[in-house]
This record gives sequence, structure tokens and C-alpha cells, in this order.
Amino acid sequence: MIKKDKDYRVKITESPGATSVSYGTNDQFLIRGLASKRLLKGKVPIRGSKNAILPVMASSILFKKAITARNVPRIEDVLRMSELLNLLGASPLYAPEKRTLIIHGEKIKNPTLDTEIAKRLRASIILSGPLLARFKKVSFPYPGGCVIGKRPIDLFIEGFKKMGARVIEKDERFFLTAPKGLSGAKIFFKVQSVTATETFLMAAVLAKGKTVLKNVALEPEVTSLAEFLSANGAIISGIGGTTLEITGGGLLTPLVDYKTIPDRLEAGSFLILGALTSNNLEVTDCNPEHLESLIETLSELGVKLNVGKNNIRVLGIEKKKNLGQIQVKTHEYPGFPTDLQAPLVVLLTQLEAESVVFETIFEGRLSYTEDLKSMGANITIWDSQRVLVKGKTALKDRELHGPDIRAGLAFIIAAIIAKGDSIVNNVYYIDRGYEQIEDRLKAIGVDITRRLRPNPEVFAPGKK
Ligand code: EPZ
Repeated sequence: MIKKDKDYRVKITESPGATSVSYGTNDQFLIRGLASKRLLKGKVPIRGSKNAILPVMASSILFKKAITARNVPRIEDVLRMSELLNLLGASPLYAPEKRTLIIHGEKIKNPTLDTEIAKRLRASIILSGPLLARFKKVSFPYPGGCVIGKRPIDLFIEGFKKMGARVIEKDERFFLTAPKGLSGAKIFFKVQSVTATETFLMAAVLAKGKTVLKNVALEPEVTSLAEFLSANGAIISGIGGTTLEITGGGLLTPLVDYKTIPDRLEAGSFLILGALTSNNLEVTDCNPEHLESLIETLSELGVKLNVGKNNIRVLGIEKKKNLGQIQVKTHEYPGFPTDLQAPLVVLLTQLEAESVVFETIFEGRLSYTEDLKSMGANITIWDSQRVLVKGKTALKDRELHGPDIRAGLAFIIAAIIAKGDSIVNNVYYIDRGYEQIEDRLKAIGVDITRRLRPNPEVFAPGKK
């Protein structure tokens, strides 16, 4: 059951009266800084991955019967996707206490995406593939999401055309039709794209004949989706590699449930927090294999890590004298993730070194550094994709406005190491991907309070 009030507080409950899981758009965090003291300790459990569960939710459209997903994080983006699926007719049923989600993709009748919600969730675009493949038509608005760059959808439009769809764009809305159904095709992605790979993988499962996808994204979330579909009867080869071959067939029968993989970006952010604030912080329920590039980077910077099978312990940081000039370049998986770039920059402000950070994936993802500068960080913005960070600089308390989910978390980390009481606004973005982050921070010793922002500006999520 899904309810929504005028403040976009959405409640999804298993049954009337069950715990609701939602936050407001105008919440803010008050954080008392540690003034660089290494006082945090304890364990932080990692929740299921946002970017893994969203495409799996979309994949329900490929099934004859309801699918069940477990370890589903209680986050805003899951609620948004549930809302979209609910409006399509898939009656999602979420049991927040058990973190279990059941979706009846087989009940969907109308493949038209709601404009308001789809624009607030970039990942809504992944519904287009399975909807078009199943219903031979789909209509969706230009998708929204975080303000981190241009975020084009040309790969989607070109790919659908190759599979035989006709595309009409009118009033910022796309209308795609394929009266005879989609046909298998060879698609080479000129850039590796996570959501485009997921979309065409799903479309190909119901297309006629064989589809070959080349230069696909290698992110663990893509592999996890492919493994889930394969375990339920989809014919996919090349999983985990750069070429996927899919032989289309009929609707899938659910055979196994989906268990959401741990969120590597959440785990990575807590490791960075530990590197800055702790001599004994354990990140549990994670998959270190998905974090190799961060582990390598942190180790080079002197962070002492003890890596287990499902956990990583941060044991402090050595003072390395000759760090030289640190170069960090974001890269598609398994390279350094763009989503951990902002938290890493906060760490770099605290090292006695000069670092050059090159954001190669999104051109708008360094704007948050202005706020770090206002806290006292010595950062020179060379251009929209490169900055020079000179450490070590003490950070001061400030009122911050997170521009997107990952920079929002970086601001929380910056506020925790700063001296004084900081405010982090736009908590809505953080709630999109991190489940009750303040509870887990409090448990390791952070002084953090959520409250409604006094006198909030008019706030339009996804449009700022
Ligand atoms: C996914 O976004 C993630 N979102 C992002 O996480 C993540 O930052 C990003 O991958 C990179 O890892 C989800 O999985 C829901 P892309 P996505 O298509 O798929 C270009 C978060 O905070 N491109 O892999 O939208 C694009 O401009 C979010 O959780 C085209 O040129 O990213 C970029 O330069 C933010 N044409 C590059 O591909 C297209 O049609 C990679 O982006 C599509 C993309």
C-alpha cells in the first residue's frame, strides 16, 4: 500500500499501521564536529545497494508472476521506483521490517511512466527497456535525477531504434513503438553506461532472436542483475565481461528470489570516514571484492586496513612523509568510482600532500568543492572536471547544501571532521540512497540530529 502527502512524504506499508519508512524533503542534519580527533569506533553494517535493487525492480516486468527481493534498503529511491511501478499497476508490497519487496510485474497493463516521479528519478529510464519489450510501446519523460552533468539518453534512443522501435519525441516526452515487438540486434555502446547496459539486457530477454551488447558496463550491479535474470531462465552469456549475448524468449518464471548485493558506495564512504576519524572502525556486511580500487587507493595513502571476507576494519592512518603528488582519476568499474570521488576529496584535504583529482565520468560533479573551500579547504578548481587539493587544512563549521546524493554524504564527512557545529541541508538527496544514515553514525559516536529545516526555501527535488 502506498500513500503520499503534499510534502512528498511517501509511506509504503505492509499493512495499515505497519512501520512507515519515509522522510521529508526539507530535513537537515545538525552535526557537532570532532575537530579532527579520531574518536569514532564500532561497527557499521552496510545495507543493500540502491543501484542494484532499482534495475531488479524494473526486471519484474519480464516475469509471468511476482518476484521477491530481499535485503532491500529502506531508501527514498526504492520508494520512488515502487511508486512508479504502483502507478503502472504492479502493486509493490514492501515489508520494511523484513526488507523484503514483492512486485507483481505481471499485473501491469499500461506502459506509460508518470512524469512527475520519473523526472525525479534518473533510474526511471531503466523501466523503458522491459516495458517496450513486453508491451510493444512505452512512453516516458526525459528522466531527471541528480544534477551532476548533462546525462544524455542518446544510447537508449539509438539502441531502441536498432532493435526496431520507432521513436517520437514531443513536448519533452518520448513515445516508442515496436508493433511487431523488439528484434535482437548488435549494439555497441560508444561509452560504457550502467543504466543503458541494464536497460538493453532486460529488453533483449523478451526480444526476438539474439542480441549482442558490446562495451557494456562492468559494475557489480550490472553483473548482479544479469545473474538474477540468468538464474530465472534468461539465456545470457558473457556475464561479467565486456560483451553480453542474450537469446530472447518468452516471459520468465520466477525460480529464485533476488538478494540485494551490499552497497559498495556506502561501504566505501564509511571506510573513508574511518580513515579520517577512527583507529578501530569495522565496516560489516560488505563485499571487499567490489572495493578493490578504493582499498588500493587508501592503502597507498597510508590507511591501515584489515580486509576480511565480508568486512573491512580501518585501523588508523600512518603519517606518510613522501606521498608525492597524488593523482586520482575516476573511471568505470573496476576503476575508481565517480560516486566515491567527493568523499575521497574530503580525505585529501586532510593529507599533507598535493592531489590532482580528475572526474572523467560526469562533467558537473565537482561543484561541491566550493562548499569545502568555504570550510577552509585549499582547493583550486582548474576546470569543470579537474581540481587541485592542497592539504592539510583544518575545516570549520558551515551550513552546507548537498547538490547530489554522493556530495551530500561527503558534506556529512566534512562536517564530522570540522571544528564546530555544521548544518547539512538537502538531506532528501542523502535519503535517496542511504538508509537512516544518522542512526548508524550515532552508533559509532557521531553527534548528529535530524530536524526540519527552519524557513526552508521552495525545494524541488531533482531540479535544483
Ligand atoms: C549509474 O548512472 C549510477 N546510477 C550512478 O549513480 C553512477 O554515478 C553512474 O552509473 C556511474 O557509475 C544508477 O545505477 C541508477 P552512466 P548512469 O550511463 O547509468 C554517458 C547515484 O548516485 N552517457 O553509466 O546514469 C554519461 O553522460 C548515481 O547512485 C551517454 O553519453 O550513468 C556518462 O558520462 C548518480 N549517453 C557516462 O555515459 C547515454 O545515453 C556513464 O554514465 C547515457 C550515458
